[in-house]
Amino acid sequence: MEEDKKSLIDQTQTFHPSHSFASQANLKSFDEYQRLYDESINSPDTFWGRAANELHWFEPWRSVLDQSDKPNFKWFSGAKTNICYNCVDRNLETRENKLALIFEGEPGDTRVFTYRQLFDETCKFANTLFSLGIRKGDRVAIYLPLIPEAVISMLACARIGAIHSVIFGGFAADSIRGRILDSTCKLVITSDGGYRRGKNLHMKTIIDDAVTGCSSVEKILVIRRDNTSSQNVNMQEGRDVWYHEASADKLTTHESEHMDAEDMLFLLYTSGTTGTPKGIVHTTAGYMVGTYLSTKYIFDIHDSDIYWCTADVGWITGHSYVVYGPLLNGATILIYEGAPDYPNKARYWDLIEKYRVSIMYTAPTAIRTFMKWGDEFPNSKNLTSLRLLGSVGEPINPAAWLWYHKVIGGERCPIVDTWWQTETGSIMISPIPGVTITKPGSATLPFFGVDPAVLTDEGNETDYGTLAIRKPWPAMLRGIYQNPGRYVTGYWSNWGGAYYYTSDGAIKDQNGYYWIIGRLDDIVNVAGHRISTAELEGATITHPWVAESAFIGADHDIKGQALFGFVILKAGFQGSDQVRAEINEIIGRKLGRFEIPERLVFVNDLPKTRSGKIMRRLLRNIAERKELGNTSTLADPAVIDHIAEEFRKLD
Ligand code: WT7
Repeated sequence: MEEDKKSLIDQTQTFHPSHSFASQANLKSFDEYQRLYDESINSPDTFWGRAANELHWFEPWRSVLDQSDKPNFKWFSGAKTNICYNCVDRNLETRENKLALIFEGEPGDTRVFTYRQLFDETCKFANTLFSLGIRKGDRVAIYLPLIPEAVISMLACARIGAIHSVIFGGFAADSIRGRILDSTCKLVITSDGGYRRGKNLHMKTIIDDAVTGCSSVEKILVIRRDNTSSQNVNMQEGRDVWYHEASADKLTTHESEHMDAEDMLFLLYTSGTTGTPKGIVHTTAGYMVGTYLSTKYIFDIHDSDIYWCTADVGWITGHSYVVYGPLLNGATILIYEGAPDYPNKARYWDLIEKYRVSIMYTAPTAIRTFMKWGDEFPNSKNLTSLRLLGSVGEPINPAAWLWYHKVIGGERCPIVDTWWQTETGSIMISPIPGVTITKPGSATLPFFGVDPAVLTDEGNETDYGTLAIRKPWPAMLRGIYQNPGRYVTGYWSNWGGAYYYTSDGAIKDQNGYYWIIGRLDDIVNVAGHRISTAELEGATITHPWVAESAFIGADHDIKGQALFGFVILKAGFQGSDQVRAEINEIIGRKLGRFEIPERLVFVNDLPKTRSGKIMRRLLRNIAERKELGNTSTLADPAVIDHIAEEFRKLD
């Protein structure tokens, strides 16, 4: 792997930025990047203080960065601000009638909001939340399709100081319940439905199931998305409230809460290496400044842009680069509710043509899917409005990068391959468009304030090792909800606490460019979705016949990685298609259908070391049809041949 990758990197093509892009860009030359980067590392207070001054503060900060209680770093201590105010109110001065939000539903319905209208709707939503008893510091779960209210409800929470916990619409009841219980949410915001491939997703029904046993939930606020199904929604007297009814008499003005810089802004649950997801804590001021500045330079936002990030707001990409970063920059954002192949495989390209999208930000797995569908779909639409392309979520293979560059970008659009994480809050490693020479497959160089290193386990710099970050940065996570210990041990305990531990392997090439290889832990990245194998194993064991299981991620042409499950049944039980279907059903129902494995294999035993640790590398080699390699540390080497045989039977 290491050698393959290295030779690939040595032979790679380079792409030089175009002068015409740089001449109009927010950052115009590599020298300027270098100068600002050096300042951001050597004088972070000056650099970030200046960036922060481009935004609105109710009260100024006492210090930009407070390192007195490492690793509990504090940014902009003493300041008061509000991110919703900065996203919405601040733009009324110069952009009142500019479009803030364009929505297209899967059935083709559209809604648009100017900054003035976004202000009105957000205030109305904030007043509705207040009337339901929501106050600063309360936790609110948001489980919605990608409709305007998803964006508006996040902004409204931020406006009143409630902490939002957005839960991706693909998660099933058990996953939702776990998140609501951990954060003791007072309110759940959902809808009667939403569309995906022509079907209505009955989100309220899923929430009814999810909130059983959640004693903290006082109210469920239901948005009417679908007039026909809303009659069939079960509204529990005293608990469930229709948004259109509750908001009818609410004012369209609202004074935003003055938030402390380090007040919690949101929680976002993500997979860890244990069975329970962790609630990543992001706070107000640093997150605001970090997402603002990274969007300004990496997506080169101009007033004329139509910006489309295809992520769902249920993921960090949606938080930082659908909602907060672009709105802080006064951009016009597009959101699309549905599937890329509904009603046909040209839907995305149709949206770009229709709305003259100029900036598109999507994931490698989507790009590979479009490649497979064929050039005729993008070629059938006019994509000349595009000027900048982005990629995020997993390593982009050079073939997908080149296709994106040629077929979507018409060889004229810079590509920004952006590496970051739920925990980092904002983009960490990425080219600056028009400025950085790009190499397909490399996220290139650090963004301002980011000081990466590739380290050996002992903490020595190397060209192939673990990616670490030396310095704190404004949008970094501030902790794990209800679990301060896990924050320190998980992120700040390697290498004597001197670095943030990313869990990613990386290569640093001779030009100092970073190439992210992938996760070093038991997290699998399937189609850009971060999935914990421990969580899958926890769900699988609840089938009464299952004794033990192991899930792994193996390379997959389209999804980047695909999931494979290896299951041992209790003595006396036989594996069958029926049992397989039952286990998959449990996974779909408990965790979400996107976590159902590509293949589930019944085995008699799992490859374990003498100390009892499952050797996942061997299972991965089987799934990738590779040589098994060294099996000498196995307690019983015969086990692996049997597993390989069972695996192949399913071909
Ligand atoms: C993991 C974080 C924050 C973006 C959405 C995913 C992988 C993310 C890249 C990239 C290679 C990438 C890493 C990281 N990843 N972007 N450009 N190149 N790998 O956020 O769900 O928290 O997952 O996604 O493995 O650790 P996430």
